[in-house]
Amino acid sequence: MGTIKSFHQHSIQDKEAFWKEEADAVYWETPFTKVLDDSKLPFAKWFVGGRTNLCFNAIDRWLESRGDEAALIWVSTEVEQERTYTYRQLYQEVNAVAAMLRAQGVGQGDRVLIYMPMVPEAVFAMLACARLGAIHSVVFGGFASVNLAQRIDDAQPKVIVCADAGSRGGKVTPYKPLMDKALQLCEHPPGKVIVLNRGLFEFEPVAGRDLDYAALRAEHDGAEVPVTWVESSTPSYVLYTSGTTGKPKGVQRDTGGYAVALASSMKHIFNGKPGDTFLCTSDIGWVVGHSYIVYGPLIGGQATILFEGTPIRPDGGVLWSLVEKYKATTMFSAPTAIRVLKKQDPALLKKYDLSSLRALYMAGEPLDEPTAQWISDGLGKPIIDNYWQTETGWPILAAQPGVEEIRTKFGSPSFPVYGFDVRVLDEQTGQDLGPNQKGVVAIVPPLPPGAMSTIWGDDERFVSTYFSSIPGRQVYSTFDWGLYDEDGYWFILGRTDDVINVAGHRLGTREIEESINSHPAVAECAVVGIADQLKGQAAVAFAVLKDPRVLDLPGAALKLEGDVMKVVDEQLGAIARPARVRFVTALPKTRSGKVLRRAIVSICEGRDPGDLTTIEDPGTLDQIKDSL
Ligand code: PRX
Repeated sequence: MGTIKSFHQHSIQDKEAFWKEEADAVYWETPFTKVLDDSKLPFAKWFVGGRTNLCFNAIDRWLESRGDEAALIWVSTEVEQERTYTYRQLYQEVNAVAAMLRAQGVGQGDRVLIYMPMVPEAVFAMLACARLGAIHSVVFGGFASVNLAQRIDDAQPKVIVCADAGSRGGKVTPYKPLMDKALQLCEHPPGKVIVLNRGLFEFEPVAGRDLDYAALRAEHDGAEVPVTWVESSTPSYVLYTSGTTGKPKGVQRDTGGYAVALASSMKHIFNGKPGDTFLCTSDIGWVVGHSYIVYGPLIGGQATILFEGTPIRPDGGVLWSLVEKYKATTMFSAPTAIRVLKKQDPALLKKYDLSSLRALYMAGEPLDEPTAQWISDGLGKPIIDNYWQTETGWPILAAQPGVEEIRTKFGSPSFPVYGFDVRVLDEQTGQDLGPNQKGVVAIVPPLPPGAMSTIWGDDERFVSTYFSSIPGRQVYSTFDWGLYDEDGYWFILGRTDDVINVAGHRLGTREIEESINSHPAVAECAVVGIADQLKGQAAVAFAVLKDPRVLDLPGAALKLEGDVMKVVDEQLGAIARPARVRFVTALPKTRSGKVLRRAIVSICEGRDPGDLTTIEDPGTLDQIKDSL
């Protein structure tokens, strides 16, 4: 197979030959006629003319060889249930859901919005959409009504599938009322909402609109729905993510390229094979869940574990108990989860038989060295830090043990992954930088198979957002700072934009600001991400009030802080709630009115704010300092 370096080189220099070979891992109903159409860069089309289907590759293809083997293992420590679906059972469930969606008029190209906790029915719904050639848009359960309404209006789904409620840490978290509120807020509500009633939260169905999942499931029991074969570039899903503006972007993914990218990653990055068991602790509402809870493992013929619960309930050994019980071979988690476990009894790490486990993969936020060292010592297994984004769909930087075993360095997600022509560029000149020079991490187009094809409904924004920020070069900006060292190991050094990362969740500070600004007492505000020991970053808000005299009463600031947090909770969800809200009379701004976010962060983190020659009023920074 060769070394990582030559493998990567081959993938960049000889794209067509490289990806033609990788495409063999996927079933094509009609073979493609051209590997790559790069005639309209930065738009790229992979496997042109080929017809395939994600659901077929994830399920049908394995029926003969693995029909009675586990495909989906659901474990909920929230409702104390476990269920294993074989490939054949998964086939039956997905067909029934495909039939119920079809009966609601869902067909190729229609959107279906899925707003569900970590339950098997969510996975069935995703795969059922893929089967029909419909486009799913999964919204993370932690998001609230305003987020939901934005996504509904942008994707305009024909049908919504949601649940009555989820549960987190033993506490019921209602979904249905948030959905009802979102449907009131949005301009393009769909006609039908299929509700999975878990019996967790009592609700009144809306007559003529709400349909009961169980009733439809019974009605369509035993249905078989033929696969809709789609051309490779046909969109498979839209997944919204945050950026610099207040409006989330719908990352649009294709079908054939995604199937090939995931199939190849299961081999080369995850070093796996059919029959393995994959435990990914992400959520189906995030890209890691799409790629490595649902599609990747199933396309690779593996069993995937869907876990509804937290890593510390009933105790900090629960994840390791799952590895032991289901003989997980590969585990994928986020640094935050491991930092949480670090506070638990270390003996829990030794309590279970982890001999099946080959490696622990981690992504979503920087993996700090002490955490990497702690888990590496505790597990005695390779820890594989991998770096990527919602936009790319699969890792940009990672060790690739299926290609070559390498020594990893803590703090580094190792090397560029095949297919990604990744560079470190000077922000001002666009020039390529050499070893140990910090710059913007960028990717020379075409983006590889599996990466986003465009922004849903907005090709122009795709180009202007991602390919227009580096002077003189049309390259994809990751909006991350980074460098590589003299040995070629890469390091990611934080975002170049206003995106923050709280416990592995990507949040746009502008979205939080817009929400806070909607509080009647607030005139304007700035939200920044401040280093946090446990969560990586925490959101902190500084707000200017329309009338500062409202703070004169004793306890008023505390009450108002709580009120502002409540507004964010209700509109965006608890994950976006700032850890602190502080009131100031003015924000630090340049003379042209731009908020000096980096200076605010520096002050909050006790660092020197650097060059302040453009600041309008230096006293505003003192206020920030005093307010903490
Ligand atoms: O800033 C980088 C950080 O998370 C961002 C992408 O977040 P999201 O779109 O939610 O996708 C997560 C997919 C794993 C990146 O721009 N990030 C992700 N992985 C790492 C990371 N930062 C440092 N090290 C990583 N391994």
